[in-house]
Amino acid sequence: MPKLAVIHHRHEDWVAALSEAEPRLEIRGWHPRDAIEADSAWLADTEALFTWRFPEGFLKKMPRLRWIQNSGAGVDHLVQHPEIAPEILITRADGQFGLWMARYVCGHLLAEAQRLEECSIAQRQARWEGKLLPEDLTGQSALVVGFGRIGRQIGRALRELGLEVHGFVRSGRADEEFPLHGIAELAQHLPKARLLVLCAPLTDETRGMVDARLLAHGHAGLTLINVGRGDQVVVPDLLEALDSNHLGHAVLDVFSSEPLAETSPLWAHPKVTITPHHSGPSTPKAMIPDLLENLRRYAEGLLPRDLVDRGRGY
Ligand code: GLV
Repeated sequence: MPKLAVIHHRHEDWVAALSEAEPRLEIRGWHPRDAIEADSAWLADTEALFTWRFPEGFLKKMPRLRWIQNSGAGVDHLVQHPEIAPEILITRADGQFGLWMARYVCGHLLAEAQRLEECSIAQRQARWEGKLLPEDLTGQSALVVGFGRIGRQIGRALRELGLEVHGFVRSGRADEEFPLHGIAELAQHLPKARLLVLCAPLTDETRGMVDARLLAHGHAGLTLINVGRGDQVVVPDLLEALDSNHLGHAVLDVFSSEPLAETSPLWAHPKVTITPHHSGPSTPKAMIPDLLENLRRYAEGLLPRDLVDRGRGY
């Protein structure tokens, strides 16, 4: 087993869970805030690091670092990190994020379709609102941008709810399960779409992809759900589209800068729902089996699974 350093805001949970699952593992953890003061002697010959974010300059303490296991699915912050040498392996986590995010997307869509807010207002006024029928989602179209493991699981859940799902990827390809298109074709599908879900990695192609040009093809019955990255949406264009009825509702879990600033106009907008980047939480329960498998592979000299292609960006 390699020695494993953990730099994470919940390092105690990760160290406890990993030590219990693999008692032979030599593991120590620090909060990112304290990482610069972490035990340099112990870190000096440690080859593996489990982290989400670490402070500037920290990697100087790990001259033997060979492998970074990310605690999340998105790796944009690591791929672009100037302190991570090109030969260092980066792996992303699976963590059943697809299942979590499918629940998030379906939950928010169903809240709209079942008109939960209106039902709750009517209830508080003791009003029997017999005309408050749920919306029929059958045959309505859902566009899912990013169609790896996470996107496919979201797509399957939406299909179970009766929607017709289209996946969007870097370049369209044949698929046995769903029609898959290139991201460049998104605009032509938007006029008929009920739902646009973003769950793609942040790359040069997806940065700013939801902008005024794309949203000009939207309509008042369209809902956007972003569980990808905040930088994929141009916020002033989004607000403009909501105000001009080119978009009906934006459900945002991710933002360019987090936590979202108190001064952001998104908070108070009546057609925006904000959640605190919680659609795909990293939990030891979901992630430990994959982490242990990767540690074993590394110990045996094999490449760990879910390796990031740094050239591609994910
Ligand atoms: C969270 O955003 C993740 O990438 O896992």
